[in-house]
Formats: sequence, C-alpha cells, structure tokens
Amino acid sequence: MTMNASKMMTSMACRLSFSEADQQVLQQHADWGMKIAPEMADVFYAYLGQDPEMSQILQASEGRVHRLRETFIQWFHEMFTGMDNWGDAYAERRWRIGLAHVRVGIFPEHVVPAMAIVVQNVGQKLQAEGQSDALQVALSKICMIDLAFIEQAYIEVSTAAVLQETGWTAGLFKRLIATGAGAM
Ligand code: HEM
Repeated sequence: MTMNASKMMTSMACRLSFSEADQQVLQQHADWGMKIAPEMADVFYAYLGQDPEMSQILQASEGRVHRLRETFIQWFHEMFTGMDNWGDAYAERRWRIGLAHVRVGIFPEHVVPAMAIVVQNVGQKLQAEGQSDALQVALSKICMIDLAFIEQAYIEVSTAAVLQETGWTAGLFKRLIATGAGAM
C-alpha cells in the first residue's frame, strides 16, 4: 500500500499556492535554515518532553531523542533546500516521515500542536533576526504541506488496514464512515 506521494505534493503546492517565488526564497536562505535548525530542534524536543504522553513515546527506546534530534535537523533543512525542488524525492521522504509516526502510534492530536510550535518559534526567530515576511510566508506554507503529509499518512494507513482486514471496498468503507459521522 502506498499513497501517490507525488500527486499529493502537487495538490498541496497548488492548494497552498506554494509558488516558485516561495521556493526561491527558501533556497536562498538554506544556510540560515541550517544555522538555526539545532536551536529549533532543542525547542521542539523540550516541548515534546513536557507532555506526559509524548515524553513516554520519546523515552520508549534508548537513544531515540538523540536520533530524532538529528533527523529533525535534516527535516528542517530539507524544507529550505527542497531536496529535488520539492519533487518526487521530497514527496516520498515526507510520506516516509508520516509512516514513521503512524508506526509508533503518534496521532494527529500530537502532530498538529507540534507543528504549531515549529511555526511559532521559527516566526519569532525570523522576527528577531530581521528576516523578510516573504520567508515567513514560504516557511509557513511548507510546514503546512509537511503537516498534511503526516496527517494523510495516518488516514491512508488506517484505511488500508481496515480494507485488508475486512475485505471491504473503499466505497463501502467511505459510506460507513459517513453514516457513522451522521450518527454521532
Ligand atoms: C512537526 C511535527 C514533526 C516532525 C516534523 C517530525 C519529524 C520527524 C522525522 C524527520 C522523523 C524521522 C522519520 C524517519 O526515520 O524516516 C521522526 C520520527 C519520529 N518522531 Fe517525529 N516529528 C514530528 C512530530 C512528532 C511528535 C509529536 C512526536 C511525539 C512524541 C514524534 C516522535 C517521533 C518518534 C518516536 C519517531 C521515531 C520513529 C522510529 O523510531 O522509527 N514526532 N519525526
């Protein structure tokens, strides 16, 4: 089972008007992104560590926080470089990041506030360092694209698991969800 990550990337870029100008401003500031990434990682993991549920997930295996700090820094930098100009490789990487979170039981209720912390802190940093509004806008857009990937992975994996286990069609499952929502 795999989501069409490239198609998802294209539609997210379109829905968020993630333009060539946004991409250029990010790439022009890739070194700045790398420079502030360790500080953003510290803020991020301090935030996760304050939450009992998320802290427990982080402590579940030895060296996890250390590994995640490195992967966070790489993730943060990739938002600026776009890897392959926010193409197939970028999309595939974001899908894989989404899957990694589904595997360890991290839900939308964890990921959305965590991304809000990134946006908020990077916004403060941009302001403190006199960076442009254009960079803030571009960064907010790419953070939302990345967030959409993590959230969508959760839906894709849950749906595929139910379909595989029950033999239901996607159409039937969709109707059951709509009926279930109607009954709540
Ligand atoms: C802004 C939201 C988040 C971003 C950008 C992010 C970033 C990442 C990245 C880049 C990876 C590595 C994925 C891979 O190995 O391919 C990862 C894995 C992981 N993240 Fe996050 N993360 C986010 C939210 C969270 C939250 C809320 C938690 C809650 C504790 C969390 C805990 C983890 C854990 C435990 C793994 C390791 C999975 C494993 O052991 O394979 N992350 N994250």
